[in-house]
Amino acid sequence: MLDIDKIRKDFPILEKKIRGKPLCYLDNGASAQKPQVVIEAVKNGYEDEYANVHRGLHFLSNLATEKFEAVRGKIQSFLGAKSENEIIFTSGSTEGINLVAYAWAQYNLKKNDEILLSIAEHHSNIVPWHFLREKIGVNLKWVEPQEDGSISADDVINSISDNTKLIAITQMSNVLGSIVDVKKICTSAQKKQITTLVDGSQSVVHMPVNVSEICCDFFVFTGHKLYGPSASGALYINQTRFDEMQPFIGGGSMINYVGKESITYNRIPHKFEAGTPAIIPIIGLGAAIDFIKSLGHKNITEHESKLVNYAKESLYDLDFLDFQGKAINKGGIFSFTMKENKLHAHDIATIVDQKGVAVRAGHHCAQPLLDHLGLNATCRASLALYNNEEDIDQLVDALKFAFTLID
Ligand code: ALA
Repeated sequence: MLDIDKIRKDFPILEKKIRGKPLCYLDNGASAQKPQVVIEAVKNGYEDEYANVHRGLHFLSNLATEKFEAVRGKIQSFLGAKSENEIIFTSGSTEGINLVAYAWAQYNLKKNDEILLSIAEHHSNIVPWHFLREKIGVNLKWVEPQEDGSISADDVINSISDNTKLIAITQMSNVLGSIVDVKKICTSAQKKQITTLVDGSQSVVHMPVNVSEICCDFFVFTGHKLYGPSASGALYINQTRFDEMQPFIGGGSMINYVGKESITYNRIPHKFEAGTPAIIPIIGLGAAIDFIKSLGHKNITEHESKLVNYAKESLYDLDFLDFQGKAINKGGIFSFTMKENKLHAHDIATIVDQKGVAVRAGHHCAQPLLDHLGLNATCRASLALYNNEEDIDQLVDALKFAFTLID
């Protein structure tokens, strides 16, 4: 069992008072706070061990390269990939998905091929596919959530047609919190030779993930939601797809030889890592993964599911709120609106902020889902491993206070 009081001390920002109140940080779905070990890794990286990677022959460059490349192995084991070569460093999920769109889909999909998406995807897993719709005429097909906000693997599988060539789907909705059985989807897709991309931006923070068991072709995640620095993340590419991919961004590092009339490329993963990478953020991401491993991903899931149950009991009792996404299998994301829209989501967020509570309000970069729900904004509280029951109580009190202002 995790000692949350002790863990909270590892996150210096949680000591902060906001407007005289203890910080109640519930905007983790947008970005999580950083533990001391990540802050130290970044500080130490710049203070003591900084140089460019892959290029130098001097001591510091070799040291930075060693530290940077070691993170590839950490991510490989964190995701259960078969080889380090399957791990591409990115600036986050957005870059990872765009890389798949440009380096794989653009060359392997053609007019009238179908990309199957859930309507609850984040814009980062929608917009690159719209680009392909506009550019080569692929069709986007959408799977809607069930009444309770769950995204059913069977609904996705049953929506597959002869034209489906790619399924791009979240493992956990950033608005509904619903957890999707991506293993069922990907194993079924594999039998039909359909390529799969899983967006693990929200899920990987809260649950152990194994890409080899999921059987996906591509998997993306973002470091800043995983207690790591911003501008860090990774794309997993199943090595069986390597031969189907062309380079994406061109520049240094990704080449083998550049002549006046010819060019050859570096091997994967370097083929997809042009230019000087985000050296220190990636090293910081390595520290974040070590931190999670030291706590135990299973212990994190256990703590968070207890907290989710506590939050469900406390929040669902607030009869002046409507909740979007009440799936049984859901993680720590609660989206809600005030009944009869008595207060706009932005107003709720502004009022609870006066009580030290940080939540997000808006469309959460998921406009197709919000359209489907008939809303233009929700308020969202999203949990992290350092949250506790007091945070939920503080949120509940702040929401009750917001309600008194209009009652
Ligand atoms: N994707 C992030 C969110 O859901 C920013 O808030």
